[in-house]
Amino acid sequence: MKELYVWRKKIETGSLAGKTAFVTGAAQGLGAAIAKAMHAVGARVVLTDVNEAVEKTASEMEGVGAETVLTAGLDVRDIDAFEKVFASFVERTGGIDIVANNAAVTVILGGV
Ligand SMILES: NC(=O)c1ccc[n+]([C@@H]2O[C@H](COP(=O)([O-])OP(=O)(O)OC[C@H]3O[C@@H](n4cnc5c(N)ncnc54)[C@H](O)[C@@H]3O)[C@@H](O)[C@H]2O)c1
Repeated sequence: MKELYVWRKKIETGSLAGKTAFVTGAAQGLGAAIAKAMHAVGARVVLTDVNEAVEKTASEMEGVGAETVLTAGLDVRDIDAFEKVFASFVERTGGIDIVANNAAVTVILGGV
């Protein structure tokens, strides 16, 4: 993917160049899609998830090993761990510009 649309407005390729995004719940679903979309238009992305599958998701993206795709295990229910992991990436990257705090469990309730 080389284009990103937000509310039908095209975000130009390279428009997030120089920005760093921190995404929770990035192993699959919307979090993975958000991380990939922001990376496609130039952002350095930090993919975090409670699920180790986040490593595989990141490995499928260009830029792994070149400091443009970074990963960490993180359970967002653990506030201390969140602060520690987030602070470590602020230091490592020089600052986080965008946070997509996407992680959660979707509960689907049955109908009548
Ligand atoms: N998919 C939808 O239709 C929909 C609709 C409304 C809201 N949402 C919200 O969007 C977000 C993502 O939804 P999705 O459909 O991509 O879900 P998903 O289940 O496909 O992915 C959720 C990801 O979050 C991770 N995760 C779960 N608990 C976590 C935790 N405690 N710490 C860190 N990571 C954790 C999972 O491992 C998984 O990778 C959720 O917050 C969900 O509630 C989704």
